[in-house]
Amino acid sequence: MSLEAIVYVSTASWKPNQGELESLLASARARNLEYAVTGALIYHEATFIQYFEGPPLGMDVVYGHIRHSTLHHGIIELLRQPVAERAFPNWTMGFTVSTDSPLLELATEKFLATLRNLPPDRSGSDGRELVLEFWRNFRKGR
Ligand SMILES: Cc1cc2nc3c(=O)[nH]c(=O)nc-3n(C[C@H](O)[C@H](O)[C@H](O)COP(=O)(O)O)c2cc1C
Repeated sequence: MSLEAIVYVSTASWKPNQGELESLLASARARNLEYAVTGALIYHEATFIQYFEGPPLGMDVVYGHIRHSTLHHGIIELLRQPVAERAFPNWTMGFTVSTDSPLLELATEKFLATLRNLPPDRSGSDGRELVLEFWRNFRKGR
């Protein structure tokens, strides 16, 4: 089964309250389970960064819902690439609220600058590793 991964950042349209985040996650997880999509979502001060992965068909369905959600706007796709295996096999969608600013650095400028400085044939996989490393370190600290 072929797999692809997408990373994007976006801006929340308003400050979601606990209930809104919970219902967002509940609907996201139910659909992800149905379409075999896994990944992680991080929220920090009006910025979402999401990594998700799955079979191309399921990814299209899920990404369609993500793009059309009124809860956020200004989606910037940072990465889209085929992957050999899942990074989040056990998460229909992990979620955490970040209180640290490093997320924002990672979210756009640092991420894109890092990709620009890599040889073209390595840029995709190293971009993915950058996000995964952030997630691992971030979770370790909690
Ligand atoms: C930050 C964010 C992440 C989302 N992640 C997923 C997801 O992983 N899977 C999914 O099926 N839908 C996802 N969605 C879409 C929601 O599950 C849901 O379809 C959407 O929030 C409905 O919003 P609306 O009522 O504003 O259209 C996401 C939406 C947002 C804003």
